[in-house]
Amino acid sequence: MMTSEKRLLVIIGITGNQGGSVASRFLSDPSYRIRGLTRNPSSPTALALASKGIEIVAADLDDVSTLIPAFRGANLIFSVTNYWEPFFRPDCRVKAVELGVSCRKYAYEAEVRQGQNIADAVAATIDSLDENGLIASTLSHARRCSRGRFDELYHFDAKADVFPGYVEEKYPRLAKKMSCVQTGFFMSSYRLAPSAYFRKIEDGSFLMSFPCSSDAPIPHLAVNADVGPFVYAVSKLPPGKHYLAAGTICNWIEYLGIWSEITGVKTSYKEISLQELIEYTTDKEFGREIGDMYLYSSEPGYDGGDKTLLKVEDIRKLGVECPMTSLEEWMREEDWSMVLNQ
Ligand SMILES: NC(=O)c1ccc[n+]([C@@H]2O[C@H](COP(=O)([O-])OP(=O)(O)OC[C@H]3O[C@@H](n4cnc5c(N)ncnc54)[C@H](OP(=O)(O)O)[C@@H]3O)[C@@H](O)[C@H]2O)c1
Repeated sequence: MMTSEKRLLVIIGITGNQGGSVASRFLSDPSYRIRGLTRNPSSPTALALASKGIEIVAADLDDVSTLIPAFRGANLIFSVTNYWEPFFRPDCRVKAVELGVSCRKYAYEAEVRQGQNIADAVAATIDSLDENGLIASTLSHARRCSRGRFDELYHFDAKADVFPGYVEEKYPRLAKKMSCVQTGFFMSSYRLAPSAYFRKIEDGSFLMSFPCSSDAPIPHLAVNADVGPFVYAVSKLPPGKHYLAAGTICNWIEYLGIWSEITGVKTSYKEISLQELIEYTTDKEFGREIGDMYLYSSEPGYDGGDKTLLKVEDIRKLGVECPMTSLEEWMREEDWSMVLNQ
């Protein structure tokens, strides 16, 4: 197939977990050519992607004028935004203090602005998009789904306020061409703070303690392996739908049961309070943000209690292939020495 005949897929966040996974999956479909966006086209990751035939383009989500040419002519766009960069970056912490807002709120506003920039720029190329032409990675709307109980779960609402909120309100025609994919807990997230997941206690067993009820169903996602296949499957379906991407949905006791079986180590689970989590966490604002996420995951639920979200089984029932990694498969491949040698 000639390059000019191929469909153009534009990937935001191509150097990261989600966008990288989308690139891997679509690279194996010769009917697509891929354009990936990054702030730094000469980074080792960007150069490695370019060496696979991906067109790497410099663009910044904070500057809509860089996004408009980057999206021009796209048939399909994958969108992702990263709450945690403006949350953790030292210069953003300084700016938050200057503005008199918490770093959580600062990162919320930064992520919303980036999402709106994406939507504004995608709207400028709406006619080139396929019927299902914008696939956005997002999360449930905590404030709305909890009826106002969680009004500071910023890394959820910053996504949902734009995908779908802002798009539906400002660009109804684009909303009709959009699919929203809520992503489950990344299975790899424990690596950022292994002892927060598994703390070795005096008797040699491991204790997990979160402010989350032990029977709350949690969606778990092998982000690097599975976002790509999930998004690829979604691209084959009609637009306007909302999905939950996860390889396994289970509670934390079941999670520990699988882990125990694989590692041969005893575990226990203790539900703690938000205050206790904050006390254990060095970065208190981080403790508050993820603590709220655990509480919200208990009630109304990580997915906001929305039973209409389409899951992998629903996609398969529609006759579309959607290979996903189960938590057990992922755990069996993982090197747990960092946890076990605490
Ligand atoms: N951890 C979890 O369990 C979990 C679960 C569900 C959802 N999430 C969400 O996942 C998101 C992060 O996704 P990820 O893990 O794929 O991110 P990641 O691996 O940290 O990568 C972030 C990507 O975004 C790009 N990016 C960031 N700021 C940019 C900007 N201003 N302009 C252009 N590109 C920019 C980066 O590109 P360059 O640096 O190359 O420019 C990079 O490719 C977060 O918002 C988080 O809330 C996480």
